[in-house]
Amino acid sequence: MKNIYKYMLVTILVASGCQNTKTYKRGINSSNGENTIVNSPNSSINKNGKEIWQRCKACHGEKGEKKALDKSAPIAGQDRETTIYQLKEYKNGNLNLYGFGQLMKGQASSLSDKDIEDVAKYIEELATLGG
Ligand code: HEC
Repeated sequence: MKNIYKYMLVTILVASGCQNTKTYKRGINSSNGENTIVNSPNSSINKNGKEIWQRCKACHGEKGEKKALDKSAPIAGQDRETTIYQLKEYKNGNLNLYGFGQLMKGQASSLSDKDIEDVAKYIEELATLGG
């Protein structure tokens, strides 16, 4: 009996620990030894999204503020569901909003579902990244 409770407790701790690392990292603040949040969700966690965005910004602007090739809408801050939907549709060759669907198909074709989710999350946060 005892062992079962121990096992359950460990399972709960492990499960909640995993969830934490998804949203933010906790660390010890060395100056006062307190356990504080050292990384905000925006900063270093979504590295993959940020990395992918480096390929997009030439056309969409550093912060997603530009109309790509003077055609697209500015996408900074666009909600992630919309971006995920659009990128998947571009990838499948099913979306062509302004006559440049083929171009975006090329951009999206190498992105995995996870890449698409990560970059969509990054784009959603662009509007809030330091002005
Ligand atoms: C070579 C320039 C170029 C690059 C690089 C590029 N895009 Fe685009 N993007 C466009 C153009 C042009 C359109 C309009 C396509 C159409 O006609 O539907 C567009 C459309 C979009 C849209 C839909 C915007 C709307 O108006 O609703 C999204 C979202 C998007 N791009 C995301 C991305 C992402 C994410 C990347 C990087 C992986 C990327 N783009 C890379 C040029 C580019």
